[in-house]
Amino acid sequence: MKTKLCFATNNTHKLEEIQAILGDSFELLSLKDVGCTEELPETGNTLEANSLQKAQYLYDHYQVNCFADDSGLEVHALGGEPGVDSAHYAGKQRSHADNNALLLKNLQDKTDRKAQFRAVITLIQDGIVNQFEGVVTGQIVEDYKGTGGFGYDPLFIPDGYDKTFAEMDLVEKTKISHRGRSFEKLVAFLG
Ligand code: IMP
Repeated sequence: MKTKLCFATNNTHKLEEIQAILGDSFELLSLKDVGCTEELPETGNTLEANSLQKAQYLYDHYQVNCFADDSGLEVHALGGEPGVDSAHYAGKQRSHADNNALLLKNLQDKTDRKAQFRAVITLIQDGIVNQFEGVVTGQIVEDYKGTGGFGYDPLFIPDGYDKTFAEMDLVEKTKISHRGRSFEKLVAFLG
């Protein structure tokens, strides 16, 4: 029998990708599949707290084994900001363009351009909680480069590369990205 596992997302792209890695022994369910149409609570101060909050809500309200992810960009010279506020760094309009512009403004005149993307997945199976972290370190560039990806991708060059995430295709990015690395750990754990 297939093990059912709900992923706290309705992004079919993400679901298909993870389903392909997990193979036939798992049946991945979306939020819609389990009847969850409300927004999941996300009021924590850390990526760990937020991904736990989302998974715990699903587990408690829908009685399903599940996992949730949360991710953000942490910039060294800004004390780890925007971090958990990455999606709404420049305000509640949640505009990637505004967020990127604010980031560049806040880093004006700063020589320290170190940053990392971090992702945390919380898995809850039969009440047991496990978390998996993925990190990719790099630098924030002074001007936009590339048109692919989303969010802060045009401003982030991963260490060991001379192009931004926005200049990579999804396969290349996922091999080294925070999200890719966190999902690798989840998949290894689930066996
Ligand atoms: P979420 O965890 O997927 O909701 O991501 C939260 C926010 O972090 C996004 O809205 C982006 O601003 C930022 N972010 C997370 N992952 C990435 C990435 O791979 N590239 C660019 N921005 C990202």
